[in-house]
Amino acid sequence: KRIMVLYGGRADEHSISCVSVAGVLNAWNSERFEAIPVGITKDGHWVYGGTDPRTFKLDGAHMPTVEITPESRPVVLNIGQGRDGFLIGEHEGFFTPGASENLESLGHIDAVFPVLHGPYGEDGTVQGLLEMMGVPYVGCGVFASAGCMDKHYTKILLQAAGIPVAPGITFDTRRYDAASGFRADGEALLEAVREGGLEYPLFVKPSRAGSSFGVTKVEEESAEALADAVFEASHHDWRVLIETGIVAREIECAVFAPRSGEAPRPAWPGEIVLDHAAEEDQFYDFDSKYTDSTASHVEVPAKLPEDVLQKVRDVAVRAFTAVDGAGLSRVDTFVRPDGEVMVNEINTMPGFTPISMYPKAWEASGISYPALIEQLIDGVLD
Ligand code: DAL
Ligand code: MG
Repeated sequence: KRIMVLYGGRADEHSISCVSVAGVLNAWNSERFEAIPVGITKDGHWVYGGTDPRTFKLDGAHMPTVEITPESRPVVLNIGQGRDGFLIGEHEGFFTPGASENLESLGHIDAVFPVLHGPYGEDGTVQGLLEMMGVPYVGCGVFASAGCMDKHYTKILLQAAGIPVAPGITFDTRRYDAASGFRADGEALLEAVREGGLEYPLFVKPSRAGSSFGVTKVEEESAEALADAVFEASHHDWRVLIETGIVAREIECAVFAPRSGEAPRPAWPGEIVLDHAAEEDQFYDFDSKYTDSTASHVEVPAKLPEDVLQKVRDVAVRAFTAVDGAGLSRVDTFVRPDGEVMVNEINTMPGFTPISMYPKAWEASGISYPALIEQLIDGVLD
């Protein structure tokens, strides 16, 4: 069977997806499934061929990207064309009204594994496109993908299911047009934080982004610091979330549900342990995640009492179910000193980089990386 593996994409997390796909393709040793890698450039062109995605690496300053090269060819999606749904050729663009002489078929694609993070990949858009084309795909469907991409709505869904989340308020920043506009509204932002009963430190985040893009910690009441943080987040999404910073350990639980209708399985929860936690206000930001891969390591299971680990697993499965999850997700939780478990976010296409939690957590919980890939694909094929 031929599996299209999508990577790159239009989101800020483009390069993370490139490194994730290298992880997936290097672990891929299936006899039954052939991987057909298709990259999506930052401006949304689908390309086949060119730089071998298995070579993408995290190496500090240089972040890999999907480029159109002389060796790569544009991929055209031919909606509703059945077996020849994916064509390659000289034409640019998404939709062609039918195959033309300039196009050849990429061959029949049995399923798609969208190894894409962030908007236009992990948010239900690609999932919707594939639903339209009638091509099975790995992972969450349209609703869960959209609901989990947007942290504002994830909170609403989880709260409705009785799952604790960090207190937060949401802002529409579309009315501001420059940093000065945010600054001018700093006092109003502070007031909203007070009214919302939020406590410092605060975390200010874009509602739809991942890998800590645009996240700022605001230590204490300051109109200027808050306005700057909201401005920073607004570069990534006009919807901005301000949350109480929870004093807790961040424990991540990989959930696996390759076959629809079967009970989701939680791995042993893991923790990212920073090796240089010396800096007081350090949080696990983009740089500590990806540009300095020696800065942290993954510990599975996290060093917590067994009953707390079980509680995290239970909450993770409840959260996955509450958002109508399918296939896989990594549920990121806060475990407070008193043992309370809150859900921070749900990543419907978690990182698959060599330092990522999802495959490591399963390796420590009895499913090897290659088996994980094979079972995820198998689950959508019948
Ligand atoms: N959004 C990144 C890829 C993660 O959650 O792992
Ligand atoms: Mg996270």
